Amino acid sequence: MRYFRAAFNLVYTYYPYLLKPAVWPAIWRMEIAERVSRLFGKQKPSRTADAAVDWCAHLAISTEDALAELNVAVANPETIYPEVFDQAKQAEGNCPIKMGGAGNLTLLYSLVEGLNATRGIETGVAYGWSSLATLLSLQKRQGQLFSVDLPYFKLRSDNWVGCVVPSGLRGNWQIYRCADREGLPQATRAAGSIDFAHYDSDKSVPGRLWGYDVLWNALRSGGLVVSDDIGDNDGFQQFCEKIGIAPIVVVDQGKYQGILRKP
Ligand SMILES: C[S@@+](CC[C@H](N)C(=O)[O-])C[C@H]1O[C@@H](n2cnc3c(N)ncnc32)[C@H](O)[C@@H]1O
Repeated sequence: MRYFRAAFNLVYTYYPYLLKPAVWPAIWRMEIAERVSRLFGKQKPSRTADAAVDWCAHLAISTEDALAELNVAVANPETIYPEVFDQAKQAEGNCPIKMGGAGNLTLLYSLVEGLNATRGIETGVAYGWSSLATLLSLQKRQGQLFSVDLPYFKLRSDNWVGCVVPSGLRGNWQIYRCADREGLPQATRAAGSIDFAHYDSDKSVPGRLWGYDVLWNALRSGGLVVSDDIGDNDGFQQFCEKIGIAPIVVVDQGKYQGILRKP
């Protein structure tokens, strides 16, 4: 009975994706490979959240101080574009499912502005709050955003991914609807050298280390990588140590973001 239920859940969750080969490798990794390794007793890697939070808390400064350190003016997109945000909030309200919410949009928007960016990559779209903030800045320079997002399979979120982004901002926006492992190589090929990257998708340590590396290699000299939720585990710290660069760590509403500038 247990195996029958497990098989039924698998089929029920994934049948809408039978015709979407871009997500097959992610399904394989997330479900099949994990179930098999659990069956053979391989444990999931333990998380090191407490140590990561301590490391972040020790380094953390405010959004304003971080932007001052980078010589960038503070700009809150919500106060600059109130109507766009009112409509975006309505769009989120009309969305029938609950997805991951917005991060530090003032930080993101200000950095894209400060860089005068024309090309960026982000991982993790969900409603599209970070995409909205980024595109509002990029549109001024006809810049392009390349996003990678794996839908929440169980929520059937595909049709709602990016729903807060108005149609007028979508012209220069390309979304790869698959996991980072498949989407990031495509996005970096399409984008070429980028001014910035925003990481907000796979929060596991191996996922972060792999994704940061790809983004770092695509970044131009002087460009920035911003990562959300770096207090979840020590993935960001490990990457900083690997490349030997001191990050700027920002605390905003109890959550930590990390910023790295490429020399
Ligand atoms: C926290 S939400 C992103 C929020 C978004 N940046 C914003 O500010 O509105 C995380 C998103 O990453 C997606 N995601 C999770 N794992 C992923 C992976 N391995 N590759 C790509 N996207 C992934 C989730 O489905 C979700 O849409």
